[in-house]
Amino acid sequence: MLCATLCVLLLIWAPVAPGPSTPWKRDTGQQSSSSDVDIYSFHIDSRVSSRYAHTVITSRVANRADQSREVLFEVELPKNAFISNFSMTVGGKTYVGEVKEKEVARQQYDKAVSRGETAGLVSTVGRTMEEFKTSVTVAAHSKVTFELTYEELLKRRHGQYELLVKARPKQVVSNFTISVRIYEPQGISSLEAQGALTTNELSSVVQTTLTEKTAHVLFSPSEEQQRLCKDCGDRGLSGDLIIKYDVSRELPGELQVVNGYFVHYFAPTIDLRIPKSVVFVIDRSGSMSGSKIIQTHEALLQILGDINEQDHFGLISFDSSVSLWKETLVKASPGNLEEARAFVKSITARGATDINEAVMQGAQLLSRAREDKSIPEFSASILILLTDGDPTSGVTNLDQIQANVRQAIQKKHTLYCLGFGFDVNYKFLEKMALENGGVARRIYTHSDAALQLKGFYEEVATPLLLEVEVLFLHQGVANLTRSSFSQYYNGSEIVVAGRLLDNSLDTLVSEVQAQSSNAKEMFRLEAPVAPETGFQDEQYIFGQYIERLWAYLTVQQLLERELLVSDQEKAQVRGRALELSIQYNFVTPLTSMVVTKPEDGQSSGPQVAEKPKEEQDLEETNRDMSFTKSSGHRRFHHRMPQGPQGPLGSGSADTGSKRAVRKKLAGRGGHSNTGYVRANFPLPDSEYHLYSGPRPFPDPRILDHPPVLATVVPSPEPPLSVRFLVPSKVQVLPLCFDMPVSPGQTLLLFQEPTTGLAIFAEVGAQSRGSFSRIKIQISPSVVIRASALEVTLLHTATVQTWPWPDVSYTSDSLSVSVAGRVLTVTTGDSSVEVLVHQLQSRTHLWARVKDHAYSSGTGGLIGQFQDNISYEVKDSSSRSARIEVRGNVLDATSARSVDYSTLSRQKVDCWLVPPTGLLRDPAAYVSASL
Ligand SMILES: *[C@@H]1O[C@H](CO)[C@@H](O)[C@H](O)[C@H]1NC(C)=O
Ligand SMILES: *[C@@H]1O[C@H](CO)[C@@H](O)[C@H](O)[C@H]1NC(C)=O
Ligand SMILES: *[C@@H]1O[C@H](CO)[C@@H](O)[C@H](O)[C@H]1NC(C)=O
Ligand SMILES: *[C@@H]1O[C@H](CO)[C@@H](O)[C@H](O)[C@H]1NC(C)=O
Repeated sequence: MLCATLCVLLLIWAPVAPGPSTPWKRDTGQQSSSSDVDIYSFHIDSRVSSRYAHTVITSRVANRADQSREVLFEVELPKNAFISNFSMTVGGKTYVGEVKEKEVARQQYDKAVSRGETAGLVSTVGRTMEEFKTSVTVAAHSKVTFELTYEELLKRRHGQYELLVKARPKQVVSNFTISVRIYEPQGISSLEAQGALTTNELSSVVQTTLTEKTAHVLFSPSEEQQRLCKDCGDRGLSGDLIIKYDVSRELPGELQVVNGYFVHYFAPTIDLRIPKSVVFVIDRSGSMSGSKIIQTHEALLQILGDINEQDHFGLISFDSSVSLWKETLVKASPGNLEEARAFVKSITARGATDINEAVMQGAQLLSRAREDKSIPEFSASILILLTDGDPTSGVTNLDQIQANVRQAIQKKHTLYCLGFGFDVNYKFLEKMALENGGVARRIYTHSDAALQLKGFYEEVATPLLLEVEVLFLHQGVANLTRSSFSQYYNGSEIVVAGRLLDNSLDTLVSEVQAQSSNAKEMFRLEAPVAPETGFQDEQYIFGQYIERLWAYLTVQQLLERELLVSDQEKAQVRGRALELSIQYNFVTPLTSMVVTKPEDGQSSGPQVAEKPKEEQDLEETNRDMSFTKSSGHRRFHHRMPQGPQGPLGSGSADTGSKRAVRKKLAGRGGHSNTGYVRANFPLPDSEYHLYSGPRPFPDPRILDHPPVLATVVPSPEPPLSVRFLVPSKVQVLPLCFDMPVSPGQTLLLFQEPTTGLAIFAEVGAQSRGSFSRIKIQISPSVVIRASALEVTLLHTATVQTWPWPDVSYTSDSLSVSVAGRVLTVTTGDSSVEVLVHQLQSRTHLWARVKDHAYSSGTGGLIGQFQDNISYEVKDSSSRSARIEVRGNVLDATSARSVDYSTLSRQKVDCWLVPPTGLLRDPAAYVSASL
């Protein structure tokens, strides 16, 4: 459903400010050029009061041109944050965003779309950030101010709070400032500034002022300094500033009351750890093969190296069958660890995924150890499930698995679910973890996956308390956020907030009861209620901060709860979360922010910002091609001409009818579309950009097609297929055929038995009819994988990952390089290219074989035609024909196809024939996974 809005957004979204490297972008003369559009002031102002961060990004831009210009505002914010305000001031008038229920916003927005107006949106970028993007038309010699506010509670992890701000104005800015002010009543015990903006030439620009309770980090580089850094030049700075700090912990925590709301932070220093029993349940199904299993080995070996000698542990690996390393938990003695290492190294990937049986056995292992008292009475028992896919073997019904696991764990153990990559059903894992006292985490398939795994383990490595209950022994304490926790881990913090309805109280007292390794413990904290003796307002922060923190935490917990409760209760939980989101102006998964904006002095139309969901595929949410540097310091942004998918993407046989395709495009979005969609078809979509706002298109051909404003009933999704073109040796028209596929399936494109070279392509789970990943197998031990985000080389046991476009590898037998949108892999006499196409929201990958000495055995969907084929037309009309090819006579219809093997994505006419009869063995090219 999310797509319904966002897909349409894309169709009408306008590329404006050129990114740092957009070599293939055709200049139509309408984009803002940097000299015309001057960001003269860019400020990020972050204020943190007791871990609650309130950040305002202000960008002031002048249009110095003699005509109106489109001005883009594009910034990144942390995923955990909620946007709480946005405004733009243009022509002396301020337009402020309004938070509304998603459906209400959507209706407003649909109307705007049908009037041909534009919309703004938030999308996920990478692991931790979301991107907010909007644009506005600014009259000649006028200015605009954008202001975005977001809020978040900084979480303590590994003993530190972390605040991350990103700046990428894309030009040198005369007044550029990042300012972070922190006020911590407990006292700041350590603080450091990290990130790309603090390195090398810029290190001297970062000024830090630290007092007992406050810190101020100021980064205000001059224009000259903004040009100084490597790769910056006229594009200005691009990077992040990470502030890491911790507070003093003489007391077990901190209690604050302001204006009837209170917050309770609890993170005591405890010297004795609680022994733990941990069972690792490791997926070794076929999809884990390659880098994932290698990284899992690496992480497990390190974790085994760190495991405490008091701890007990078990190892389970599973595909469709489950292997227990040992039938019982064992102590982490040097001998056992050595044996465990050998077991880890022996885990190889194959087969299907039986999550149910594996987790059940893990739970039984822990329960048996508890029953026969082979582990200490007070110990934390933890299951860590690592999987990269859906259950495909044994019990596969998700509800049934969750019920079984609940039954087996019975709240006696804690289950953490780590979802490796984007083929997992994250919602399923999240629900299962939450139901059993744990959390789910995504492990990103990057070169640092082993570090991510180990990092997660370290968060739960040292339990200090069990069964933590935070109590307030007063009447009049209400609306408490979650207050009982099965474990408190070293390096973390427990936060509880609530309301105080009784204003006759002088002092609020809390009592925390918990189990330590040797005793029942009790901690008390107290705070004065009277505001004048309590929290000092002038310490940077808006006076309502605790109330907002309470709302933030409550909404987050209600959204989690929604996953767990029955359908009847769901509506109620959702309703409360929605109410609070609207009341506090938070853009949450239930709300949208609507901004009515001016557009060329004509009618104004709203823009909508929505929060993307975690479970969405990166490829789906990365509406632009995002080339993420693995360091996370720089991000290049590429905008491609956007157009509708051609017949290839849609898998439609009825490509002759423009109207049918139009309808489908509109129908898929569930909306009526204005001119832009229609205008683009069936012209080659690489030739021009789409523009927002009611303005004429530069291309006269487009005006030949009247707008389609009809409301179109959504049509069912057509069956998925991928269309291949087969050029002919003698005939003018190529043949084409549709391979029926389903998402996630892999096609064998090319195979050379003499050398072992093979090319596989994975059909995107979300991107219909396109490829989301390409795998080039040079030999069994040398494999290159390309996705929209990165290129990975697996070379015997080593793994190397590059973000696009910084790919470069050369050895005697292999070279891998990128030029523009083309990855070239050369080995021996063969060279293979992977082309990256960006269409609408989707990234399509395509592979072509450039040079190759074909043999008679060369196979695969592309390879078997050795680049072309001979055929004869038996009898033909303009729309159909009978074609003799490979000894068969096939019925053919006239069709069109996009030629994805060229960067220009030409649309070409072809004779569409059934794959049976054309292909040597049509069933032989499809397999389950890459
Ligand atoms: C949002 O920002 C505008 C403009 O700065 C301001 O007038 C308004 O009060 C803010 N709204 C909220 C809810 O903070
Ligand atoms: C930079 O912007 C800040 C905040 O808007 C302002 O107070 C300051 O005077 C500006 N400095 C310059 C040199 O323009
Ligand atoms: C908790 O973590 C801190 C900082 O990493 C460390 O110094 C301390 O020893 C740990 N406590 C226990 C009980 O392991
Ligand atoms: C807060 O608690 C009161 C009294 O229990 C209840 O009526 C109200 O709905 C709660 N408000 C929220 C936002 O949970």
